[in-house]
Amino acid sequence: MIIKNLSFLNVRKISLFSEQFLPQTNIIIGSNGSGKTSILESIVFLITGKSFRKKHTQSIIKKNKQEIQIKGIFQNEESLTIKLIYNGKKKQIFKNNQILKRTTELIKDNAIVYVSPEEIDIIEEYKKEKQQYFDKIIFRINSEHIYNIKEYNKLLLYRNSLLENNMSTEPWDEPLSLAGLKIWKTRNNFFNFFCKIFNETQKKLDLQLKYIIEYKNQEHESKEEYIKKLQAKTKTNKTEVGPHKDVIDLYLNNDTIKEHASQGEKKLFKYVLKFTEAEIIKTKNNNNPIILLDDFFAKLDNENIMKIFSYFHRKFQVIITTTNTNTQILENIQKNNIDIKIFNNDKTINSN
Ligand SMILES: Nc1ncnc2c1ncn2[C@@H]1O[C@H](COP(=O)(O)OP(=O)(O)OP(=O)(O)O)[C@@H](O)[C@H]1O
Ligand SMILES: [Mg+2]
Repeated sequence: MIIKNLSFLNVRKISLFSEQFLPQTNIIIGSNGSGKTSILESIVFLITGKSFRKKHTQSIIKKNKQEIQIKGIFQNEESLTIKLIYNGKKKQIFKNNQILKRTTELIKDNAIVYVSPEEIDIIEEYKKEKQQYFDKIIFRINSEHIYNIKEYNKLLLYRNSLLENNMSTEPWDEPLSLAGLKIWKTRNNFFNFFCKIFNETQKKLDLQLKYIIEYKNQEHESKEEYIKKLQAKTKTNKTEVGPHKDVIDLYLNNDTIKEHASQGEKKLFKYVLKFTEAEIIKTKNNNNPIILLDDFFAKLDNENIMKIFSYFHRKFQVIITTTNTNTQILENIQKNNIDIKIFNNDKTINSN
């Protein structure tokens, strides 16, 4: 999927925006606060119905305005126009002028991958959020996983409330273990596959760093063994075994990334992670995702920038934002490539 044209009204400080994009690399230059992240945010909001910023969704609407409107013209096998209107409460989404009843209908075509300093930081997050991050990637290739997780969480909540009230959990142990086994099976398969693509992507990027993702669980051979572990006496009044206890560790050359990696190394890890996601969507969903890289040049040295650039250029449609207007690296990229669009956001935006 590629985005050919984006236009919007009243997103953050921008009153009106309209721009064409190339199928290859697009670079948006602009000063701090000029609205670069807002442009990427609009694309993500249009496709996913959500903002990647941690703040309230309503704050995407320009101050003193009633609603935002975003329209994108995409090209997959066919041309696709998506339009979204959001007034702080309700979203209306139109696909080729036909209103969509549910936003989830859009998620199926959700071929987008983004990296922004304003999104949740997977490296710094706790166990649960890290698992949720990967579960969301699984949802994109296996929609059944959403229902399995919901079912498991419901059963877990119920079982924990029984434990807190010193009541018997027995009738709930079998359904909980069956739901748990299903999740473990999906996650095991997924991480095997994900880590393989992750290692291949690292090789392609040639970063001279070795990142490792380790998925650990207490999986049991059989349902009976699982139930026995569930029913074993625990110190707490909580369910101590199951997929909610799964752990994902991230390493750089045998040290944990969170505690040991530099800022640039952390950023590079996120890039390998997101490009892996892009590669997976490309193969599994047969849909080449659009890649958005917010503040691309920050914290990266020229050698790594060129390696990343050579990896994605002409392979994916990429939209980059940056504050740099005349760096040597931009000149280099421009000199050797004609299929790049660079535009200065300070000149194009209308923020009145
Ligand atoms: N709801 C809103 N109404 C009006 N202006 C807003 C609203 N929300 C945010 N802003 C302003 O819009 C601008 C947001 O810009 P954005 O984050 O897109 O900038 P940027 O170009 O990515 O900057 P940086 O280079 O610092 O990352 C900021 O100046 C912010 O104060
Ligand atoms: Mg920004």
